[in-house]
Amino acid sequence: MKRNVHEIIEKNVGLLTVLILVAISFGAMVQITPLMFQQQTMEPVEGLRPYTALELEGRDIYIREGCVGCHSQMIRPFRAETERYGHYSVAGESVWEHPFLWGSKRTGPDLARVGGRYSDAWHIAHLRNPRDVVPESNMPGFPWLLENKLTGEDTAQKMEVFRGFGVPYSDEDIAGAQAAVRGKTEMEALVAYLQSLGTHLK
Ligand code: HEC
Repeated sequence: MKRNVHEIIEKNVGLLTVLILVAISFGAMVQITPLMFQQQTMEPVEGLRPYTALELEGRDIYIREGCVGCHSQMIRPFRAETERYGHYSVAGESVWEHPFLWGSKRTGPDLARVGGRYSDAWHIAHLRNPRDVVPESNMPGFPWLLENKLTGEDTAQKMEVFRGFGVPYSDEDIAGAQAAVRGKTEMEALVAYLQSLGTHLK
């Protein structure tokens, strides 16, 4: 009898597919549903502040240049990770991230807590040509960031959109956005962004 049921399922692709889907969705539900009811995953950690206008522009450059393809921003709760990168990432640090930049590939190190680990000058030298400071590095250089200047013409609009997602930008933040970034180089913006990463969790 047991073998028969098994045989019926194995020989019937349609039924097999349906049952596989049921098994997978059950697994997903068990993992995902409880998270939707946990305040902890939706509330910002104490001390979290939104990105400044300059950091927000830096984040867009991070996305444009594909940094997320080689760097994760997600420290897992394992000893090997926390000893190297610091406290594991918590959900409340990411509530204002749109989209998340957790990444999934680590050609280079995790950057979730890189803020404050190096000086601005180190980052500028490293991003211009990584080999100047890390001789064995295979990270590409991004020298154009030193030349490209920001106009800030759409920074305020970006912040408005983020505010629509629930990021608490004030009218003042938005009104001052263009002045805060205009004339700055893309390098300055990216470094400001990197220096802010992971510095909020107390
Ligand atoms: C092709 C893969 C690749 C890309 C793309 C890449 N990186 Fe890297 N990155 C690396 C590797 C490998 C290292 C380790 C060697 C080194 O420090 O240069 C590294 C190191 C770093 C470090 C030092 C981290 C630490 O804790 O020592 C920072 C900061 C960094 N990258 C930022 C960036 C930024 C910002 C971008 C996008 C503009 C970027 N990376 C794009 C591969 C990459």
